[in-house]
Amino acid sequence: MVDYKQIGLVNTRDMFAKAVGGGYAIPAFNFNNLEQMQAIIMAAVETKSPVILQISKGARNYANQTLLRYMAEGAVQYAKELGCAHPEIVLHLDHGDSFELCKSCIEMGFSSVMIDGSALPYDENVALTRRVVDYAHQYDVTVEGELGVLAGVEDEVSAAESHYTKPEEVIDFVTKTGVDSLAISIGTSHGAYKFTPEQCTKDPETGRLLPPPLAFDVLEAIEKKLPGFPIVLHGSSSVPQEDVDTINAYGGNLKAAVGIPEEQLRKAAKSAVCKINIDSDSRLAMTAAVRKTLAEKPAEFDPRKYLGPARDHMKELYIHKIVNVLGSDGKLAQ
Ligand code: G3H
Ligand code: 13P
Ligand code: ZN
Repeated sequence: MVDYKQIGLVNTRDMFAKAVGGGYAIPAFNFNNLEQMQAIIMAAVETKSPVILQISKGARNYANQTLLRYMAEGAVQYAKELGCAHPEIVLHLDHGDSFELCKSCIEMGFSSVMIDGSALPYDENVALTRRVVDYAHQYDVTVEGELGVLAGVEDEVSAAESHYTKPEEVIDFVTKTGVDSLAISIGTSHGAYKFTPEQCTKDPETGRLLPPPLAFDVLEAIEKKLPGFPIVLHGSSSVPQEDVDTINAYGGNLKAAVGIPEEQLRKAAKSAVCKINIDSDSRLAMTAAVRKTLAEKPAEFDPRKYLGPARDHMKELYIHKIVNVLGSDGKLAQ
């Protein structure tokens, strides 16, 4: 059993309490490789922001769970080397789908886990989530549960349709499970195609697709039921059109990719939403930079020459999110 506190990680409890009270959200960035991890830590240190490094089941399969966990331990030391004396870094399991997976991550040194029982019937979701909470809390590991279903398709996360969280269920769920935070569904979804063109309107000036607004009425109803309780938004990439354009200009084929407008995420971050999950935007930034470099420098074959610019571009993206969208800059305790 690895004690996450011994390796310099923190759980989400204090971080979320401060974020809810302070009207900002903590960034939860997925990572699968060295360059993403470096860019996240550089951005968090430069902006003096707490940060959640999250690992999906897909990431564990891709990069090896042991390696990723040691990278997170390395991330703490790396942040210190970059000049941050007291980094606040959470290592979080994203979309855990079984008790066994959550337990294994807790034993490896994760400081936070998500148990995603949102696709299960309500009572089964409650029972599974309660079991994970009972185990996790013995080690002071915090747990995120989910109610409501997000649409979207990713390697390990998929649902055809979204179902908004029912505000009338949240008190019962939180009370029965003992979760530390609750992921809800209010119209966000995973991936780079969050809405069909039919669901969008067209901006007459730019011709870009404008997505429908998030269900802030549902969020407000949930906040009323659970005042001050930490709420999590998944599927919160904005799908920057400049990166989509760069990808398409250099041989890619991303048609009608559309995300959540940043002003809506800014509004959410000021509410009880205290964790905002972003993965697809980092994938787009990395792909855009790699495609551009390889197209402009066809003789290049040293991976550092194209992954370096990709890392720089992701770092810019993370800084932008922290400072201009989530507002978590300057929020480190010391
Ligand atoms: O919410 C899903 C994350 O973007 C992780 O995606 O399962 O393809 O690693 P993944
Ligand atoms: P995006 O696909 O919008 O980046 O969402 C990521 C996410 O929710 C990870 O859990
Ligand atoms: Zn998610």
